Amino acid sequence: MSGETYAQQHHHYHRLRVARVVEETADARSFVIEIPDDKKELFAYLAGQYLTFRVPFEGRELVRCYSLASSPVCDDEHKVTVKRIADGRISNWMNDRLTAGSEVDVLPPAGRFVLREGETELPMLLFAGGSGITPVISLIKTALATTGRRVKLVYANRDEASIIFRDELEALRQANPERLEIVHSLDDRDGFLDSERAARFAAETREAEFYLCGPGAFMEVVERGLEAADVPRPRVFKEVFVSPEEDEPDEEDLARAAAADAGSTGCQTLVVTLEGKTVEIAYEPGKTVLESARGAGLEPPFSCEDGYCSCCMAKLVEGQVEMRKNDCLTDRDLGDDWRLTCQSVPQSRVVKVDWDAS
Ligand SMILES: Cc1cc2nc3c(=O)[nH]c(=O)nc-3n(C[C@H](O)[C@H](O)[C@H](O)COP(=O)(O)OP(=O)(O)OC[C@H]3O[C@@H](n4cnc5c(N)ncnc54)[C@H](O)[C@@H]3O)c2cc1C
Ligand code: FES
Repeated sequence: MSGETYAQQHHHYHRLRVARVVEETADARSFVIEIPDDKKELFAYLAGQYLTFRVPFEGRELVRCYSLASSPVCDDEHKVTVKRIADGRISNWMNDRLTAGSEVDVLPPAGRFVLREGETELPMLLFAGGSGITPVISLIKTALATTGRRVKLVYANRDEASIIFRDELEALRQANPERLEIVHSLDDRDGFLDSERAARFAAETREAEFYLCGPGAFMEVVERGLEAADVPRPRVFKEVFVSPEEDEPDEEDLARAAAADAGSTGCQTLVVTLEGKTVEIAYEPGKTVLESARGAGLEPPFSCEDGYCSCCMAKLVEGQVEMRKNDCLTDRDLGDDWRLTCQSVPQSRVVKVDWDAS
C-alpha cells in the first residue's frame, strides 16, 4: 500500500471478514467486521463515520453506506448495524446472506457527521429515527467517555420491539444518570414524531449542538421542528440515510450536466479553504471542484463521488457553481450555501469554497 496517495488508499475496496453477527431486533442485525493488523491505521475512524460496502447483486455491484455503531474509544471492534427496508435490495441481502466468516468488500471509514472539535462543553440533543441510531449511539458513547457534556437522545421507532440497542442505551443511561437522558418516541404509543414535538424538545435545550440521523422523511420533520424553534443552523449536524440513485441519466440530466460544463469555461480562479489553509488553484473547464482540488494535490474529504453520501460537501463562499446531481442536500442546505463538491462545476469567474465551514 506504501506509495499510494491518501485518496488512492481510501478508494480501494478491501476484502474483509465478518467476525460475528448479532441479532438486534426482528429486522436488524449487526455485523462485526474484522480488521487485520496491517489495515488498522487505514480503518481508524471517528465516532459517527460510516463504511461503504460493495455487494454483488443480480449480476451487478451495488454500493451502500452503513454507519459504525461502535465507538472508537469505547469498543475495540468495528460494528455496523443494518435494518431491513421493505423491498430494499442490500439491507435484506446483508441480513439474509452475511454470516460469521463471510467476506465483503469495504472502503475505509468516511463521513463528516462527527463530534466537533473545540465545542466540548455544549450539551448535545440527538434525534435518531429507526436505524439512524447507529452513528448516534457511537457519538453518545464517545461524548460520554471523552467529555463532560450533557446528552439528550430523542429516539423514534415504530414500536417497542423495533428499538435497536435498547438495552445498551439503558445501561448507558444508568451509568450516566446525571448526563444522559433518553426519550423514546413510539409511533404505536405516541403517534409519529412531528415537527411540533421536535420543536418542543429543541426549545427546552436551545443552547446545544443538534445531531440528526435517519431516513429522509424523519429528517424533514425534525429539521422543520428545529427551524420553528429558531435553532441556529450552524449548530445542526445531520446524516441522511439514502441509497444512491441508479437510474440512467435522462435527457434532462444530460443537458443539465452539459450546460454546467459549458458554463465552466468562464471560471478563472478557484479558491479553496481546507484544514485552515486557503489556496488558489488552477481550474480546468469541465472539472468539478473536488477533482480540481485533488488535482492540485489537496486531500479534501470525499467518498461516493456520486452525489448521495454528502461527505464532500463544502460551503460556497463566493461565485456560482452548478451541481450535476444531488441526491442528499435539501433546499434548506442549498439555501445555506452548501454544495456537493464532487458534483459542483464552477460557473462564475471566481469561485471560493470552504471545506472547514460549519
Ligand atoms: C452515510 C449513510 C449511512 C448509512 N448508515 C446506515 C446504517 O447504519 N444502517 C442502515 O440500516 N442503513 C444505513 N444507511 C442506509 C443504507 O445505505 C441503504 O440506503 C439502506 O440499507 C437501503 O438500501 P437497500 O439496498 O436495502 O434499499 P434500496 O433497494 O436502495 O431501496 C428500496 C426502497 O427503499 C427506499 N429506501 C432506501 N433507503 C431507505 C431508508 N433508509 N429508509 C426508508 N426507505 C428507504 C428506496 O427509496 C426504495 O424505494 C446509510 C446511508 C447513508 C448515506
Ligand atoms: S463524495 Fe459523496 S456526495 Fe460527494
